[in-house]
Amino acid sequence: MPTKVEKDALTGRETTGHEWDGIKELNNPLPKWWVYVFYATIAFSLVYFVLYPSIPWINGYFPGILGDNQRLTLERQMQEGFEAQAGLRTAINQATLEEIVADPQLLAFAVAGGRAAFADNCVPCHGLGGAGQAGGYPVLADDAWIWGGTLAAISETLHVGIRWEEEPLTRWAEMPAYGELGILTPEQISDVAHYVLTLSGADGADAQAAARGAETYEWECAACHGAAGEGIQDLGAPALSDAIWLYGGGHAAIAAQIANPQHGVMPAWGGRLDDDTIKMLTVYVHALGGGQ
Ligand code: HEC
Ligand code: HEC
Repeated sequence: MPTKVEKDALTGRETTGHEWDGIKELNNPLPKWWVYVFYATIAFSLVYFVLYPSIPWINGYFPGILGDNQRLTLERQMQEGFEAQAGLRTAINQATLEEIVADPQLLAFAVAGGRAAFADNCVPCHGLGGAGQAGGYPVLADDAWIWGGTLAAISETLHVGIRWEEEPLTRWAEMPAYGELGILTPEQISDVAHYVLTLSGADGADAQAAARGAETYEWECAACHGAAGEGIQDLGAPALSDAIWLYGGGHAAIAAQIANPQHGVMPAWGGRLDDDTIKMLTVYVHALGGGQ
């Protein structure tokens, strides 16, 4: 510690007595504003200390005289939110699907709830917003429906699933494996695939082959897919005339489906999700744009 106070010749200020290579440090006082802000923060922290949770004890902590903290606030807000929704939840529970759709407030609530449940359960297969996915996961946001796009049909599809073996009432439809079972020759399959292409006016159809395939179509396929390929929802047979494909629309993809059909599987949601959630999902899917 320096014993004698030294003054800087140039400024007349005292120095701290520290010196580095001949440079001495001035002992300037702190700016007043800085000192006051410093005292204010100390005062603030003392008040905060007393009001809010602060000092840790061996078991727990000093809770503050307000007895409040962010965890309690969050709990309270969640409880309030839940109570605010209670009326709407009861209304959803008691209303029919048609009543929900007719009531703007219930509809908005159901669509919001359905969207959340859709993100949790359906997006991995059907994509965000029901945009669908290659490989047999249908778009839910258009108006092409395999099993039906009415509220009742969507609700039924969700409850029982599709080709879901654990559910005895599941929706079921199987297309014969025309190639695998030897029902049609590879030439006949190729021809009828050309004919299927013409149903939606797709490019790449060979006119002569399609003409040969037309007869096969009438015998083998029209019973399920409809005379003009319009599809039959009661049989779960998709339209072939709408240029919307589960498994691809080129000649090769169509011929492959005819030779050895793929059959999409969707879990039954009744039993996994409660009835109110299925109601909200039904209304949400119906509202995606393609509801009938
Ligand atoms: C494991 C994949 C998978 C999950 C998860 C899934 N789906 Fe599906 N879903 C499918 C498949 C595959 C089909 C088409 C079945 C077929 O070929 O007939 C389908 C068909 C549907 C259909 C019928 C469409 C029509 O055109 O008739 C609806 C409606 C539907 N899903 C809604 C949902 C909803 C809502 C959820 C979430 C609760 C969901 N799906 C979850 C795979 C899934
Ligand atoms: C017993 C009813 C049935 C018969 C008969 C049938 N189909 Fe199908 N077909 C289906 C079903 C059900 C599906 C949907 C499979 C799925 O959802 O996974 C399907 C799917 C298809 C697809 C795929 C559609 C797409 O969107 O990708 C094509 C193509 C097709 N059928 C063509 C034919 C042709 C051609 C014949 C006649 C040679 C035929 N089907 C006979 C029931 C039938």
